Amino acid sequence: MQIFVIIALMVLGFSVSVDAFNKKERQSTITFPLDPITFQSAPGSQIATSYCLICHSAEYVYMQPPHPRERWEEIVLKMKQVFGCPIPESDIPALSTYLVSQNKIQPRVELKKVKAEPALEAVQESPSSSGNASSGKRVFGTYCVNCHGQLGKGDGPIGQSLVPPAANLTLLGKKSDNEILDAIRKGRPGTAMPSWKNDLSTQDILDVLAYIRTLAL
Ligand code: HEC
Ligand code: HEC
Repeated sequence: MQIFVIIALMVLGFSVSVDAFNKKERQSTITFPLDPITFQSAPGSQIATSYCLICHSAEYVYMQPPHPRERWEEIVLKMKQVFGCPIPESDIPALSTYLVSQNKIQPRVELKKVKAEPALEAVQESPSSSGNASSGKRVFGTYCVNCHGQLGKGDGPIGQSLVPPAANLTLLGKKSDNEILDAIRKGRPGTAMPSWKNDLSTQDILDVLAYIRTLAL
């Protein structure tokens, strides 16, 4: 049930970037929120980025009321013990200090001028060959590995404890590039599979697709 709420929040996110993404216009630059809300840079923010974005958006964390340090420690411990967040015990004090430092911060969506991404339409013929598998491996190692496992077998640290479990990506041989892209961009509502369209660039998504293709058995 709660996972629905989280996913709904992630999906609600920022449809602006999706619209930009869907437009076929050939512009050389477009302005849109690249990454809706990120953990604001401060000591400890890396820990939050590594371990909290696995299941939540940063926005979800910033929406919480201000908590004293003990309460944040309690919450993080609950994430670890109850939900299987893979954060090491030794990182919890530094993360709690960071979370306290973010109590009163209301992060703004940063509007960035970015180079126009290749429109998906332009690469529709063969999206996986438009991606770079070795860059995709890095994307995978940062964002996907905790659930899908190093070799994509669905056996990451939390992959098998999810209901349904993380998919075995070595078995996607029969799925088309577009089916896989769809799963990555939109996620799978009602499961732990997040939507990545707001958090990864088109190129990152194409790269990770190219990497997934190399995992097929
Ligand atoms: C493995 C998935 C997972 C990870 C990783 C995770 N959470 Fe959660 N989190 C959940 C779920 C599921 C809930 C909903 C719990 C509920 O409503 O009882 C939740 C709820 C919360 C809440 C709401 C308050 C509460 O006690 O329920 C906060 C705040 C929170 N998480 C912060 C974090 C932070 C900070 C991190 C990074 C250390 C994190 N979460 C990592 C799954 C996760
Ligand atoms: C929090 C855990 C989690 C993370 C992180 C995650 N996934 Fe998933 N993923 C899942 C789950 C669970 C499923 C199975 C959903 C279902 O049963 O419909 C899934 C399904 C998929 C599928 C669909 C497979 C099929 O059978 O059609 C693809 C593709 C996929 N994930 C790719 C990725 C990529 C790429 C990333 C990183 C950018 C990623 N996932 C990150 C949990 C996760």
